[in-house]
Order: sequence, then C-alpha cells, then structure tokens
Amino acid sequence: MRENTHVVQSTEDHHHQRHQNPITSLNSKLAKTWVTTKVFIFVLFIIFLSASVSWMYTFVLGENRFQVTSLFTRNTNRTPTTTTTKTITDIPKIIIKIPLNCTARNITTTQTCPSNYPTKFEPAISSSETCPDYFRWIHRDLKVWQKTGITRETLEKARPNAHFRVVIKSGRLYVHQYEKAFQTRDVFTIWGILQLLRMYPGQIPDLELLFLCHDRPAIWKRDFKKKSKDRWPPPPLFHYCGHRDAYDIVFPDWSFWGWPELNIKEWNKLSVALKEGNKRVKWEDRDPYAYWKGNPHVSPIRGDLMRWNFSDKYDPMVRLYVQDWRSEIEAGFRGSNLEDQCTHRYKIYIEGNAWSVSEKYILSCDSMTLLVKPEYYDFFIRSMVPMKHFWPIRPNNKCGDLKFAVEWGNNNTEKAQIIGRQGSEYMMKNLEMKYVYDYMLYVLQGYGKLMKLDVTVPENATEVCSETMACPITDGGLIRQCMDDSLVMSPSVKAACDLPPPYRDYELKKLLKKQVSAERKVEKWTDEYWNLRGPK
Ligand SMILES: *[C@@H]1O[C@H](CO)[C@@H](O)[C@H](O)[C@H]1NC(C)=O
Ligand SMILES: *[C@@H]1O[C@H](CO)[C@@H](O)[C@H](O)[C@H]1NC(C)=O
Ligand SMILES: *[C@@H]1O[C@H](CO)[C@@H](O)[C@H](O)[C@H]1NC(C)=O
Ligand SMILES: *[C@@H]1O[C@H](CO)[C@@H](O)[C@H](O)[C@H]1NC(C)=O
Ligand SMILES: *[C@@H]1O[C@H](CO)[C@@H](O)[C@H](O)[C@H]1NC(C)=O
Repeated sequence: MRENTHVVQSTEDHHHQRHQNPITSLNSKLAKTWVTTKVFIFVLFIIFLSASVSWMYTFVLGENRFQVTSLFTRNTNRTPTTTTTKTITDIPKIIIKIPLNCTARNITTTQTCPSNYPTKFEPAISSSETCPDYFRWIHRDLKVWQKTGITRETLEKARPNAHFRVVIKSGRLYVHQYEKAFQTRDVFTIWGILQLLRMYPGQIPDLELLFLCHDRPAIWKRDFKKKSKDRWPPPPLFHYCGHRDAYDIVFPDWSFWGWPELNIKEWNKLSVALKEGNKRVKWEDRDPYAYWKGNPHVSPIRGDLMRWNFSDKYDPMVRLYVQDWRSEIEAGFRGSNLEDQCTHRYKIYIEGNAWSVSEKYILSCDSMTLLVKPEYYDFFIRSMVPMKHFWPIRPNNKCGDLKFAVEWGNNNTEKAQIIGRQGSEYMMKNLEMKYVYDYMLYVLQGYGKLMKLDVTVPENATEVCSETMACPITDGGLIRQCMDDSLVMSPSVKAACDLPPPYRDYELKKLLKKQVSAERKVEKWTDEYWNLRGPK
C-alpha cells in the first residue's frame, strides 16, 4: 500500500494528469489477480504504453461475477514531469460494482444472499486526512470495557433492552429480532450496517452486538457501579444517543438511510437538497424571527416552548408551528419539505423525548441555530462549540434567551450569519456520508476488539443482506426508494480517514471549558439586557 499512497493523491489532482491511451482488451491473468498492488502498477504501465483519450471497460472477475469498471478521467493539462511522476499520475479508478442481485433465490424462491459478495477489498486511495474531531469520542464511549473486555455474560445483560441482535461473522450479517421497533427504525439501522459492510468489505471484525431503537438510553450509570462485582462492567448496548449519565454506545440513527414514514430522504440526497435550499432565500431577506416546527407533545420542554409564540401584546421574536404529521401525510408532505424550511434567519433546535433527528437538518440550514441546551447527544454534536456553530439557549430561560438572541442577531447581522454558516459548514463537511460510515467502522472495530466471547450465529438468527431486505419490496413505495438511494454500490476506493487519538483529560477539560465559557458569555449579555429592561 505504501506505493499507492502517493499514487492516489495524484489521482485527485487532475491538473497533473495526462492524456490517456486506448486499450481494447485486457489479458485474463490480470483479471484474476487485479487486486494486488503489483497488478495495479502493471495496469498503469499498460495504460501508459497505449495511446488514446478516454475509455472504459467492463469485465467479469473470475468466479466473482462483479462488474469491474475502470474509469479514466480525461486529462487536459499536460504538465512537464519526470518519468516517475508520469507513472504515478495515470491511475485508473478501479471500481467494483455490487448491484443488488435479486436473482439469488433458493428452491422455494425465497430471496437469499448472494454467495459472491467481495470479502476483501483494499482501498486504492489510502487516507491522507484525519477524521473530524467528533471521532475522538469513540474511545470514550468504549472505554468502560477496556480493562475487562466484553464477555458473553456482560453482553447478555443488555439483551432485555435490545430490539435486535446483530452478529457479524466473516463479513456476513445475521439478525435475531426480539421486538419490533417503531416504524422502520430497526430496518434502516440494519440496512445502514449492511451498507457499511458493502463499503468496507473485510474490515469489520466478527462481533455480536445488541441494539436499542427507542428514544432514550437504557444503561444508566447509577445502576452499574464498579464496587459491586456482579454489576460490573455494564452491559454494552448500541443506541442512537448518549447521555452523560449513561453507558449506551452512540451510533448513527436510522434517518441517515431515510425515514420513509415522514418522507425524509436519505442523508446523501437530502444534504445536497439542503445545501441548495440555503441558496434559495438570501439571509438578509429571510424572516427576522426564530423558526421552529415540530411535534410539541413529545416532551414537556417543547410544550413549554409553545407558550412563547406570538401574542398581540408582546412579540417574543419566535414563530412556532405544530407539525401535524397526520395531516402532512394526507397532504403528501407538501408543507414539510425540509429543504424549504430555511426561510427564517434563526432556527430553534429543541430536544424531543431525547435527541431529535431534526438536529442535523436544523443545523444544516445556514440560518443561525438557537440550540436549547440538550441533555442527550448524538454522535456528532459533542465537538460542536457554542457561538462558533450555534447560539446557546438555556432550557429554563428559553423565552428571554430566544428573544435576546434574535434581537442581537438582527443588530449584528454579519456575526449571526457567520455563526449560521459555520454551523451549516460543520454539517456539510464533517457529516458527509463517508464520515458517517467511517465513524461506524471505527466504533465497530473498537467494539470488535473488546469481544471476549466466541462469536456465534444464534439458532434463531437469519442471514440478512441488502438483497433479502430490498428485493422483496416491490410496491414502488418510499421504503424501497430510500434503500435504492442509499445502496452502497461499490467498496470505497478511498480508505477510511485516520482515527484521531482519544481526548486526553486535559484536552477534554479545555474543550468543555471553551464550551462553558462561550455559554457564560452569552448568559451574561442576556442577563444584562434583561436586567436593564425589567422582567419579561
Ligand atoms: C430458502 O431460503 C430461506 C431463507 O434463507 C430459508 O428459510 C429456506 O429454508 C430456504 N429453502 C430451501 C429449500 O433451501
Ligand atoms: C447472484 O447470486 C447468485 C447466488 O449467489 C449467483 O449464483 C449469481 O452469479 C449472482 N449474480 C450476479 C450477477 O452476481
Ligand atoms: C405562532 O404564531 C404565528 C404567527 O406569528 C402563527 O402563524 C402560528 O400559527 C402560531 N403557532 C401556534 C402553534 O399557535
Ligand atoms: C438592538 O439595537 C437596538 C437599537 O440600537 C437596541 O435598543 C437594542 O437594545 C439592541 N438589542 C440587542 C439585543 O442588542
Ligand atoms: C428459537 O426459537 C424457538 C421456537 O420459537 C424457541 O423455542 C427457542 O427458545 C429459540 N432459541 C433462542 C436461542 O432464542
């Protein structure tokens, strides 16, 4: 892989690429051993010898009937370079395609998993970048099992809280479902892990994990103390959000692969739409109020928020709307397109029952986010900084804080725009789907290392793959649509980003201090403002 390192960097640098040559056939030896680096270089060599513009070929790989497509980017700039650079500039991007194989069926015509999934794939482009900072929390989430590892006994204690068990063995995935989750949370969570397996074949170790699909974490620290031997270590349970008082392992939620019940597209597509949506109304032309739309009935804090909506006597500078999903569904979701909601200068994020899926959509809009300090965190929020990425709002002083924030923003439009933009850039850059998969990869690799048990496929578990999930769904509905949209078609040619080291204690203190001091500053401004004005 060493050689590939610099090879690959130059692939992306189109200016250094040169004219390509035509090749009409490729010898079959090459086809069989194409994976090895040697062949890789051999390919380069051949390409170099021949002469043409741009081409594409497809062939069948020995026993593995996957299409291998090699695409050559057309190069326009001819830069004088040394011979060595020549060899490393013309790199084909070899892409294995793994389309859904819906023809894999057994005698009873039940959809089965194809036997020829690639089991290993060496990314051609090794990583040259460090993952975003939020990856540093992975170590912390897994730390509690570092000394003891995870034994069968420890794992099984999480079983009563789990909706399903996932077993990954030799790159194949088995599920034992205990309880149906709300809507398709479980379906798309499993789908997501399957896409990870397609993305990084051979890189996910054998493991068994238990997953909780409810809103709130379940493994509370108060119930598991080091002192009592039979309650230590705590059971490992995967979940969508964490809490400072809980041990749940934080994992991306289902909505990254879609939330068909609410017509929410998978994240790849949606983030592009949100980016476009940001351009629709210029910041200055947006309504100079704080906008929120959601279901106020899921938590008291949201109910409380609704009390501060506009009244004739007094304008608290917020515009709050109740999302009535039932009528939205009837109306075909015309009023709830997320990409159309970036029309106010400020947007409010407030937790629901626990963390809310809406967080990433709200922060993606480049209006300044007024973030009511959450109790629960998802995997990416922990490294975000108040006043850099969002404006902090105290949960017990929402009304005054919100009104002040909006007034401040309208007085300091430049600064408010910057905070809005930085928040949305954080989402667009650090939360690209590739990073979401990389995060999952490192969580599962770290977790796999802790396994002190024989990974076994339980008797009632069934093998699950993208085919068994997607192929039987032929109703033309949104579930299949979300699956098709988020299907990982090829193993990643680019390796995962480099996992940054864990936060050291002093670094963590520094980060928390930074966050707290930004909050304090805002509180001070706010309180000073209101003290002058008397209570409201
Ligand atoms: C066909 O596959 C399904 C699912 O994997 C399995 O339950 C069934 O027993 C298989 N039938 C035969 C005849 O192999
Ligand atoms: C689909 O899967 C079946 C069963 O594993 C396999 O025989 C067949 O070659 C696969 N088809 C393609 C196009 O990969
Ligand atoms: C909040 O106020 C706006 C007008 O300022 C109104 O359109 C909206 O319906 C109100 N929301 C609720 C939930 O009453
Ligand atoms: C905004 O500016 C107005 C007019 O200068 C001033 O009265 C008000 O206090 C300012 N509000 C904030 C929150 O800065
Ligand atoms: C598997 O299912 C059977 C029949 O439903 C049940 O009796 C058995 O206990 C189950 N085994 C496990 C390990 O859950």
